[in-house]
Amino acid sequence: MELVPSQLITGVEDSHIKLDKEAVVLVLGGAQGITSELMIHFSKDYPCTYILVGRSADPRNASPGPLDALQHKDEIRNYLVKQGDIKKPAEIERETARIFKNNQIMRTITQMEKGGSTVVYESLDLCDEAGLSSFINNVYDKYNRIDGVVHGAGLLEDKLFHSKTSESFGRVFDTKVIPLRTLAEHLTPDTQFVIFFSSIASVYGNRGQTDYAAANSVLDKYAWALKEKINGKVMSINWGPWKGAGMVSPTLEKEYERRGIALIPLQDGREIFLNELKYGKESQVLIMAGNNW
Ligand SMILES: NC(=O)c1ccc[n+]([C@@H]2O[C@H](COP(=O)([O-])OP(=O)(O)OC[C@H]3O[C@@H](n4cnc5c(N)ncnc54)[C@H](OP(=O)(O)O)[C@@H]3O)[C@@H](O)[C@H]2O)c1
Repeated sequence: MELVPSQLITGVEDSHIKLDKEAVVLVLGGAQGITSELMIHFSKDYPCTYILVGRSADPRNASPGPLDALQHKDEIRNYLVKQGDIKKPAEIERETARIFKNNQIMRTITQMEKGGSTVVYESLDLCDEAGLSSFINNVYDKYNRIDGVVHGAGLLEDKLFHSKTSESFGRVFDTKVIPLRTLAEHLTPDTQFVIFFSSIASVYGNRGQTDYAAANSVLDKYAWALKEKINGKVMSINWGPWKGAGMVSPTLEKEYERRGIALIPLQDGREIFLNELKYGKESQVLIMAGNNW
């Protein structure tokens, strides 16, 4: 693949996106991580209905608890250890992750609603193709429109290839790839935009990430194919690693720093994403911090 530097021209022409208050935007994996940060920012300019999809349970169905305000894993873990009800380290980790996700989802919903949007959260595993298909049908039945889609769902289970199980490979690959066919089958041509969150791993590869790189390269190719069906914008964004939110753990962050790979700061990334959606014209863009290529 040949990389070509390209300057995004902003503000000269009108944004390609027009979303009125009745518009509906579907965001796969949109309640947590970088997708949530970017969509909170985006929704301030485009308040409408956002349907966020993830496997976690809807936090609005849970009763309020003393850990609801905690947004950092360390705080949650420390609380659970002090409380002493759970003893086994693996169980403490599991519960920490669950509460962290729950609180992130609640924060996303609250922030978007503060900006004037209506937020629907749907608990659904995207590897369940039939479930996703019937969910999208329900969305069309209820709203009669889907104006835009952002597919930001993904997960990492890094391991060297010889140590990977096919189940683990499947989870990483399917989460990204299974929704593609369903979207292609259901979305109507008047959809204004479909954005895939891919990774630089599909361009450069990455140690321990054959599954993840393969899945992302399918997203990249599919963006070109889906463009034939959708009149609006279809774009795969090969993100570099981010700082401050998402799947890059502190350990991975240190590893990137050691290798001289700069991380995308949240504030800059939010603005870049918004502009790319408003004015970008490419089917595939690679966005990373620094000047490493
Ligand atoms: N963060 C980065 O530095 C970076 C760099 C390059 C590319 N990206 C891409 O950007 C996207 C967002 O990354 P992130 O860092 O924000 O990740 P994240 O914080 O781990 O969030 C991933 C989201 O995907 C959802 N998800 C995972 N598996 C799912 C499944 N089977 N069904 C439904 N939802 C599922 C998760 O919700 P549940 O857990 O509730 O299911 C969560 O909302 C990913 O596609 C990633 O590959 C990220």
